[in-house]
Amino acid sequence: MMQNQTSPTPKGQLEHRYDGIAKVTGKAKYAAEFTEPFPKKDLVYAYIVQSTIPSGSLASIDQKEAERAFGVIAVLTPFNAPQLTSAKPHNLSILQDADVHYNGQPIAVVLATSLPFARHAARLLKIQYNSQPAKLNFMGRLAEARLPKQGGKEQPGTQRGDLASSMTKATVTVDETYITPIQNHNPMEPHATIAWWEGEKLNVYDATQYISGVKMSLSRILNLPLENVRVQCPYTGGGFGCKGTAWSHVVLAAMAAKIVQKPVKIVLERDQMFGPVGARPTTVNKIKIGADAGGRIVGIQHDAIMHTSVMDDFVERSAGPSRMLYNSEANSATEKMVDMNLGMGTYMRAPGEATGTAVLEIAMDELAHKLNMDPVQLRLVNYAETDPSRDRPFSSKHLRECYTQAADRFGWSKRNSQPRQNSEGHKLIGYGMATATYPANRSAATAVVRILPNGHAFVGCGTQDIGTGMYTIMAQTAAAALGLDPTLVEARLGDSTLPKAPVSGGSQSTASVLPAIDVAAKQAKLKLSQLAIQDSRSPLYNAKDTDLDTKDGRVFLRSNPSTGESFTALLTRNGSQSIEAEGSAQPAADKASMTTQSFGAVFAEVAVDKDTHMVQVRRVVGTYDIGTLMNNKTGLNQLMGGIVWGVGFALHEETVIDPVYGRTVNESFADYHVPVNADIGDIDVSVLNIPDTKFNPLGSRGIGEIGITGAAAAVANAIYNATGKRVRHYPITPDKIMQA
Ligand code: MOS
Repeated sequence: MMQNQTSPTPKGQLEHRYDGIAKVTGKAKYAAEFTEPFPKKDLVYAYIVQSTIPSGSLASIDQKEAERAFGVIAVLTPFNAPQLTSAKPHNLSILQDADVHYNGQPIAVVLATSLPFARHAARLLKIQYNSQPAKLNFMGRLAEARLPKQGGKEQPGTQRGDLASSMTKATVTVDETYITPIQNHNPMEPHATIAWWEGEKLNVYDATQYISGVKMSLSRILNLPLENVRVQCPYTGGGFGCKGTAWSHVVLAAMAAKIVQKPVKIVLERDQMFGPVGARPTTVNKIKIGADAGGRIVGIQHDAIMHTSVMDDFVERSAGPSRMLYNSEANSATEKMVDMNLGMGTYMRAPGEATGTAVLEIAMDELAHKLNMDPVQLRLVNYAETDPSRDRPFSSKHLRECYTQAADRFGWSKRNSQPRQNSEGHKLIGYGMATATYPANRSAATAVVRILPNGHAFVGCGTQDIGTGMYTIMAQTAAAALGLDPTLVEARLGDSTLPKAPVSGGSQSTASVLPAIDVAAKQAKLKLSQLAIQDSRSPLYNAKDTDLDTKDGRVFLRSNPSTGESFTALLTRNGSQSIEAEGSAQPAADKASMTTQSFGAVFAEVAVDKDTHMVQVRRVVGTYDIGTLMNNKTGLNQLMGGIVWGVGFALHEETVIDPVYGRTVNESFADYHVPVNADIGDIDVSVLNIPDTKFNPLGSRGIGEIGITGAAAAVANAIYNATGKRVRHYPITPDKIMQA
């Protein structure tokens, strides 16, 4: 049942990525690459001008010289941009006022006949500011932390039991502070939008995780009927949360296109990815865990403080895992924030769980060490059979098997529990582990399936493929329900004229979209059967539809499979019309009675140079309980990608803000470090593949985010095991290990 990278492709799964050939041959077009249907020669290039102060307002913008520059068509600023009648979105900078909230905020747009012309003219703008003192010292202002203005679906402060009284039973206590930095998403494809108008109708190609969301945002902000907006995005070059919502440039492209009456293209440059399109907030986490002599946790207290933008609140729920991952008599968790003159915070791969497991799972390792207990054993002693935070069962939980399997594949039994005991030449070797977890989310979705007279089929859904494999599993799922070879199914997505689907965020697309496709395909299959039954020329004439089945493009009598005919024969005889059906699916009616959550166990081996303290992650083993794996190649690949990001979280990633000017200092891939191939050793991922049919009929939970969770802490704990140095401040760079 278990699947890993070396398992053969299970029957019914596509062996290769549906969109693989289109991508490697360059046929796959990303948002910025479209040259149709608008006349390409009309395309206007926009360059976003950003503020150079962190706080205050624009006093004036002299744009005369910029407007005279070669190729310039228009310059939009808050002083000449059209005033929108809709409510001003707090999280966007769309030239509706002269306020400056952070360094790097969009404050003007230059439109020209080429990008170099636009970029050059942007340098000719003479911008005067009224500067105000900026809030840039996060660590100095922790005492000002406040609760978020709106609580969201979870309370920012939760209490269970009597913490103070339970803590008196503790014989061992860990009480430390753990810090995670600001991080920026940086998908390979930067944000990009092409907008053009056909009369009152707005069209956009947008690099997005949520075509319907962009459509709704543009409709709301520009005061357009929903049906007047069409959003397309056939391919998304990575999202990770920053493409989950429409940022300022999307609206600015649409506004500019209206003004110049031409298609307008905005592509953010790499440095513009740091600030105007969201970031993972920095978090400071005070964690106290008390346990009795047997390792049983009596109390967990987690008080998190994060930064938020002065523009609006965003809560990075880093205390989330501390609420629910382990049993404890009492629990108290809070998430508070400090206003900063920085761009908006937003969802970033496993928002809350990535940071939350990164910090909690170091604390657990510290506790295990103090108890002189194996870290896996500590987690088993405190295993939560039911969700302690909501006092309800899990739809399906097999974390115990993940620990056992991953430990076995890793060779955990060979670990020396005492740190700094294991060396190879000039390197200290260490083993560490952590628990991974991410919720299983699901939303309503709709899809359309067509059976074509040529024996092929079509499946369409207004979802997105952000590199995850959605095309692949759409084709596969329709094929399985229709009884067709999956290579005969055409899949289409990324167009808001297709049936609606949720955001490709929160790891929910598989669990939301596939059940809708399954319903649509089964409906199409039923219609096909009925056509045969009513057709006197069919060998299945007058049969009962419940007696029929389909396989390999044939419809036949289940009791006598040789009685039947091909889809093609049936359909060509009946006017060569396609059969079409729509289907929809929504979360189970009883979803509030259970917690739907994925889990995993991740183990890491590091080698740390005794002098330079450079860390090499030699091996990572992750085993996950994510329900049914829909496709080996695309699914395991996502988990592996998540682990790679976890290694980057542990060792490399950090957005550095200038303490005086508030600009990101390292706004390039040269300075903002992410892992490269040389940083990554062997990664072994496997899944239990145990269906969770209480969650959805196909038994699958999402896998886009869980891979990053736990991975950073497994590396951090391995570094401790190797060196005996405990670093509680990510990223764990050599200087920090040296000083620990
Ligand atoms: Mo994910 S951070 O919900 O795209």
